[in-house]
Amino acid sequence: MEIRHCTDRRFENICDSTKALLTHEDTGYVSTYYERSAMRLLTEHGRIFIKGRSGSGKSRLGIRLLATLSENKSRTPVLLTSAEEWKLIPKTTAHDRRRYIVMLDDVFGSSNFVPSSVDGWKRTFDIMWPSIESKHIFLVITSRPEISIQCENELKKYDLMQDMPCVTLDEGEYILQESEKRKMLQTICPTKSGLMPKEIQDIASARATLGFPQCCKFFASSKQAQSKGVSFLFQAA
Ligand SMILES: Nc1ncnc2c1ncn2[C@@H]1O[C@H](COP(=O)(O)OP(=O)(O)OP(=O)(O)O)[C@@H](O)[C@H]1O
Ligand SMILES: [Mg+2]
Repeated sequence: MEIRHCTDRRFENICDSTKALLTHEDTGYVSTYYERSAMRLLTEHGRIFIKGRSGSGKSRLGIRLLATLSENKSRTPVLLTSAEEWKLIPKTTAHDRRRYIVMLDDVFGSSNFVPSSVDGWKRTFDIMWPSIESKHIFLVITSRPEISIQCENELKKYDLMQDMPCVTLDEGEYILQESEKRKMLQTICPTKSGLMPKEIQDIASARATLGFPQCCKFFASSKQAQSKGVSFLFQAA
């Protein structure tokens, strides 16, 4: 009884801090084609893998999906940080029919591949699968591609990871369109909203190791970057 009580309290704490994260406003959110695609894939398949380089917007997109689905479909949003926390999610019963949307951000490590984290998830994927397959729980996972590639082959044998719909931000069909980049510039760093069309075109066609939203964020907060003007964004974008 005491153990159940502690488990419930831990889970409530996780739910409370997730809600706090969802209501914390960073800058305004710029809606994108990749966001709409991710939402469609998630509602169709009940799970989605969001990949993308650092600063491309994986965490922000994941949080956005949690916020939208908790409002529209009344799913309880839950951000878990370790495999061990999965068992805290209450089982569905006749009295408790709550549904969830769970996010595992940087699931295999944030800046580096973390083998112990992968081992934890490997032990848990088969336990997770029935509630994801039945859509009792929706699942959002994120990772930088250079991290996830290190374990992708060994994870293919798990039902959960097989045919997992995937959106890679700012790659292929999900590449940011010029209009989306312009909106991001205006939303994240309003001081640069007076960019000339040629400058925007240059920014939109260039590439960098850091994601475009993060470049805008850095530009907005750095006097030094602002003094270098568009040449900074041009190098970084
Ligand atoms: N669609 C968006 N609209 C507005 N701001 C955005 C959007 N996407 C990302 N950002 C902002 O850009 C910054 C980088 O985004 P985020 O932290 O989600 O990137 P990430 O891919 O998770 O990076 P990392 O791999 O380092 O964790 C954040 O400040 C975030 O709020
Ligand atoms: Mg992130």
